[in-house]
Amino acid sequence: MGLFSKRKTEEEIAVVPAHLGIIMDGNGRWAKKRGLPRQAGHVTGAKVFRTIAKHCEKRGIGTVTFYTFSTENWKRPAEEVNAIMNLLRQYLKESLEDFKNENIRTQFIGDRSVLAPDIQELMAEAEASTADKTGMVLNLAINYGGRAELAMAMRRIADEVKAGTLSSEEIDEACIAEHLYTAGQPEVDMILRPSGEYRLSNFLIWQCAYAEYVFDDVLWPDFTTKDLDRALAEYAGRHRRFGGV
Ligand code: FPP
Repeated sequence: MGLFSKRKTEEEIAVVPAHLGIIMDGNGRWAKKRGLPRQAGHVTGAKVFRTIAKHCEKRGIGTVTFYTFSTENWKRPAEEVNAIMNLLRQYLKESLEDFKNENIRTQFIGDRSVLAPDIQELMAEAEASTADKTGMVLNLAINYGGRAELAMAMRRIADEVKAGTLSSEEIDEACIAEHLYTAGQPEVDMILRPSGEYRLSNFLIWQCAYAEYVFDDVLWPDFTTKDLDRALAEYAGRHRRFGGV
């Protein structure tokens, strides 16, 4: 049975989110406050990402998706885009050692085909070398946008219908979910956005249909494991009804 064909009852929901989405926001403002270039915020943000990813695993979260680079982020100055790509390179090169004691499986969501070839290679290596890890799934959303993902899924579905391997009657919620980058993963239970912004910004728009949103004023480079625990406690206290009463 597909993931979206049966809504979870309240009893079935673990207190810790099965899938947590994190929007790492506020790097630019953090740097500006200190009179530093925006890139400096991303450097600290990347360090915080590593700490928080490990803490998510410690807390028993099954899947966590970090919004790392959106389809819209290409509009930023080239210098800033390059800095983020270099941080990604650095992380991918160091993660094997840094995460060697963690039982974390790394995956990427988004259109990687337009990224630099060396980054694509490093991504493939990171996925292959962690494929046998049985703990938390760590999704990095890179060149990701929720609308682009839905368009991609629709193209894939149309191709299958054209090829005769799928009939239009078979296109239901579960079928669409199976054609997304997150196929096989649980739908998103909780979205965490620090930095005082209250938006989803094209992140996991299909998967968030029933997500709980937790916002925090802390800028991402200042975000700590204690802040994550506070956010998880807020989520645990929410009463989720999934359209019921
Ligand atoms: C949003 O803050 C942050 C981003 C667009 C980039 C996130 C990237 C990193 C944390 C570094 C790379 C990560 C990895 C996994 C190696 P913003 O720049 O929009 O902040 P602002 O709203 O204050 O301007």
